[in-house]
Amino acid sequence: MQLSEPPRSYGNMQQLRIHVSIAVSVAAMLVQHLAQTAQPSEPIVPIPAKIPGDAKRIAIGERLFHDDRMSKDRNESCATCHPLDKGGMDSLPVAKRPDGSKHLRNTPTVFNVGLSATYNWDGIENTLEAHADRIVQTLMKMTWVELIARLRADSAYVSSFEAAYEDGVTRANILDALAVFERSLLTPNSRFDRFLRNDHNAMTQRETRGYRLFKRYGCVTCHQGANMGGNLYQKFGVFEDVSKKNVAPLDRGRVRITNVPRDEYVFRVPSLRNVAVTAPYFHDGREQELSKAVETMGKVQLGKALAREDVDLIVEFLRTLTGEFRGSLVSAPSVEAKP
Ligand code: HEC
Ligand code: HEC
Repeated sequence: MQLSEPPRSYGNMQQLRIHVSIAVSVAAMLVQHLAQTAQPSEPIVPIPAKIPGDAKRIAIGERLFHDDRMSKDRNESCATCHPLDKGGMDSLPVAKRPDGSKHLRNTPTVFNVGLSATYNWDGIENTLEAHADRIVQTLMKMTWVELIARLRADSAYVSSFEAAYEDGVTRANILDALAVFERSLLTPNSRFDRFLRNDHNAMTQRETRGYRLFKRYGCVTCHQGANMGGNLYQKFGVFEDVSKKNVAPLDRGRVRITNVPRDEYVFRVPSLRNVAVTAPYFHDGREQELSKAVETMGKVQLGKALAREDVDLIVEFLRTLTGEFRGSLVSAPSVEAKP
């Protein structure tokens, strides 16, 4: 209906009024709904509370995730590097293999990965299925023939796959179960999310000021969306070359995939959800302290030397981003627990 056209008769006018009044009440209902769910004006939305996915498939994925038979030498599982009771990552600067050798990069948390758009520090994969397919064959050094044979030899796997999938233990179903499980690893109900849902007592005044600074300084332009990251690529060191500070052998970031010179030292912006319990920080784990990571961000991403007090306030805010997994707060390993 074009509202600019004058109504041709009383009947139309009446209809128009009805439409307008329906539209107004729908809008009012929507506003009320948004007010109850989230503050519509905020650039970050809360993590959904409802876990997506079929429970039977999630259970298979969880078992696979913790199963050493996923690796060639039966000596590591996904959970070795992504322990769910410790922030979903290993707390090492860069991941370590069972033989003691080091991976090039820091292990990101698996919590909330379903809310990211691309995976790994360079964003090499866009789906969790493709990502799992890659790690099974590279990191875990498995062939699909071998992995399927191992799982088919286990009657518990066979029966649970058959109950959840029409065609039992297949490559596609293994990848689906892992991905469905990973998507279930949401950590809702952080104090920040409660604040976003209008519980103004969920955050202290200082934490709220930290959030305001986070927006005002422009951290939120890169760390945005429900995951506060995970959906953009940015150069690490917009205002200053930080590649020389690499602790691992030089990792050139996304250029390895795209071969485009401007992608030199470009990385996927990481999620800041649960960041207080996922030290050390950055793609090579060069920073142990959250406050130092924030200082670095101010300096090299925004070209600003942040005042000490502002860094403290932002860190206090970042600590409100720790959510809950299965009813308990996501926690750091005990070594990190000391004050
Ligand atoms: C040896 C330690 C190790 C093991 C074992 C391991 N991972 Fe990882 N994981 C890593 C590292 C390191 C990265 C980052 C790799 C990169 O950026 O190049 C990563 C990245 C990921 C990511 C992407 C996260 C993000 O935010 O981008 C997911 C998802 C993931 N792993 C799931 C798994 C699953 C599923 C398994 C088992 C099949 C597994 N991992 C086994 C260390 C490990
Ligand atoms: C121009 C985009 C951009 C801006 C602005 C930005 N960041 Fe980042 N942030 C990144 C990128 C990219 C990384 C990953 C760098 C790397 O490790 O290679 C990152 C990493 C981080 C990390 C480490 C996370 C982890 O798990 O390792 C923290 C903490 C962080 N940023 C906080 C902030 C804060 C606080 C601000 C504002 C003061 C900010 N960022 C501004 C892009 C940005």
